Amino acid sequence: MEINKAPCDREQFNHFGKSSTECISPADCRPGNGHFLAEVLEGLRKPQKELPPKYFYDDRGAQLFEDICTMDEYYIPLTEASIIDDHIVEMVELLGEDVLLVEYGCGDCAKTRILLNHLRQPAGFVPIDISFEQLQRVSVALTGEYPGLEVLPVCADYTCDFELPAPCRPPARKVVFFPGSTLGNFDPLPAQLFLKEAGRVCGPGGALLLGIDLAKDPGVLHKAYNDSNGITAEFNLNLLKRINLELDANFKLEQFQHYAFYNLAANRMEMHLVSLREQRVYVGGLVFDFAQGESIWTESSYKYTLAGFEKLATSAGFGVDRVWTDERQWFSVHYLVKDGCKRGAASRRG
Ligand code: AVJ
Repeated sequence: MEINKAPCDREQFNHFGKSSTECISPADCRPGNGHFLAEVLEGLRKPQKELPPKYFYDDRGAQLFEDICTMDEYYIPLTEASIIDDHIVEMVELLGEDVLLVEYGCGDCAKTRILLNHLRQPAGFVPIDISFEQLQRVSVALTGEYPGLEVLPVCADYTCDFELPAPCRPPARKVVFFPGSTLGNFDPLPAQLFLKEAGRVCGPGGALLLGIDLAKDPGVLHKAYNDSNGITAEFNLNLLKRINLELDANFKLEQFQHYAFYNLAANRMEMHLVSLREQRVYVGGLVFDFAQGESIWTESSYKYTLAGFEKLATSAGFGVDRVWTDERQWFSVHYLVKDGCKRGAASRRG
């Protein structure tokens, strides 16, 4: 926190060698526990019970998601990395020199490293994530791996207000990196509002580099969210475990079952936790009754067509400047610029 308030002291950090990097601590903008409880209660009160997917990522959940990302069935990380790899020269060209790279939901920063390996003297890197321990670990690691890179971590729920730290060196432009199809978790209207807000954060001349999953064979999608090792199931159930630990609740994990399916009409994967019997659960002193077979809806992952995504981007005030996909057209990476700031205009401005 302190470090980010006096950003220019950080310039000396790299001269002090590795030990000083260990004091990197994320600016802590985490929403309080009360917020977590309020959102859980609100979700469980609905006729179709639901829980917000952002709460999957406690330390254990972040680890489980890293594990999901190592499985072939979950094709997203590898496919996205191959797209970025194949087009890195062009991407880096678009981002230009002295860019401030801001990443929403950076996780372990696996894909960011491909960018950081090629970027020309970035003004800084702002990783934002809700998982504090992982963010701290990854920030320390990056500072060691990229001497001279100013890393300014922020621990926040990026759907809420947070302050973007200023790097010592003024950036030429700000680019928000939002990989992994995380935007897929948002329903259409919140997705539009979120993109608008990201446009405000990156400011005039800024851009978004965003990865979004594409509609495909439902069989492939089914396997991706019902992996044979049961890790996705554990990831889903970990949400109840976390609620038990942090919110004084008594979910019996063995009485809920992971259930994921493709909702064709709505173009989304849905994850649910299905109650295996009639049961009563207490959360924060309140009672919630479950019928046998009743579910808690824990996540949507929308799958787009290229045309459908362009429509969404346009509705949020962006133009699709570039789009890259893999050979199978399973995944896409978009370079979005504010409307009226197409490449031609940007390069004329220098
Ligand atoms: C990180 C939100 C993109 O929706 O595919 C992975 C999370 N859920 N397996 C997704 C997730 C189940 C993932 N996102």
